[in-house]
Amino acid sequence: MTDPIEINRRNWDERATIHARDITGFYALDRVRSNEEGLRAIEAAELGDISHKRVLHLQCHIGTDTLRLVRLGAIVTGLDFSAEAIRTARRLTDEAGLKADFVEGRVDEASQLTPGPFDLVYVTWGTICWLPDLTVWANAIATVLAPGGELYFADAHPSFAIMEERDGKLEPTHDFQTPVDRPLEFTNETTYTGDQTVMINQSTREWMHSLSAIMEALIGAGLAIKMFHEHEVLPWQGLRIMVPSSDGRWRLPDGHPRFPLSFSLKAQKEQ
Ligand SMILES: C[S@@+](CC[C@H](N)C(=O)[O-])C[C@H]1O[C@@H](n2cnc3c(N)ncnc32)[C@H](O)[C@@H]1O
Repeated sequence: MTDPIEINRRNWDERATIHARDITGFYALDRVRSNEEGLRAIEAAELGDISHKRVLHLQCHIGTDTLRLVRLGAIVTGLDFSAEAIRTARRLTDEAGLKADFVEGRVDEASQLTPGPFDLVYVTWGTICWLPDLTVWANAIATVLAPGGELYFADAHPSFAIMEERDGKLEPTHDFQTPVDRPLEFTNETTYTGDQTVMINQSTREWMHSLSAIMEALIGAGLAIKMFHEHEVLPWQGLRIMVPSSDGRWRLPDGHPRFPLSFSLKAQKEQ
């Protein structure tokens, strides 16, 4: 097996099965079902009113954020290439008594599988590192957006993503831009939720993308950058040295030089 996307799909299918059990409570599935969990603070502060908007949630995973968007009044389609993730998302939607469409497919197939038009494309947390080519990503988004429609995007900052932790110290370890044909290879025995189930498909292929690669891809696809923010927090404990912030997110410890851990942006298609 050499196709990096297929290697990742097998890994995500297995993770999705583990995440659906949620024995560590990482995904707070009971709270998602009973509407006790809203969007994370960054998105909640920046997204604005999405009621009655047609939303495409790319890389929706098991649908937890998809349902949060539905509860904000949007008409939402979730897309993910993991059949297991989509199965769980559909089940969770039924259990929550909500309505959302889910499509199994790759991001680069979005414009064929979900022809839109959409008012908003929503992409957050742990997304573009799985995609080799952001030109393809940005064009897929631009194709499905209605004129005047927007992308909302939030994810890990490249200045954080290139770091690895060794003996409690952060070391820049990866180049900030990974060549399309030479993905980084990672092996993880377990998933990131704290569940200790050992996976069979432990290998992944990932790509670092620089801020300029992201911006150039979006601008090249005809989207105008309307908002860009850098944040000192992440929604998950990305490195062991990170400590919880007062609002349940994660930040660098006091005294550590600050650098952005995440960023968010809005980009708009021409009217
Ligand atoms: C970390 S999760 C993203 C979290 C998600 N945004 C959420 O709302 O919880 C990454 C997701 O990307 C999906 N994925 C990875 N590569 C993909 C691709 N090429 N096309 C579609 N989905 C992909 C995986 O199946 C996984 O569900």
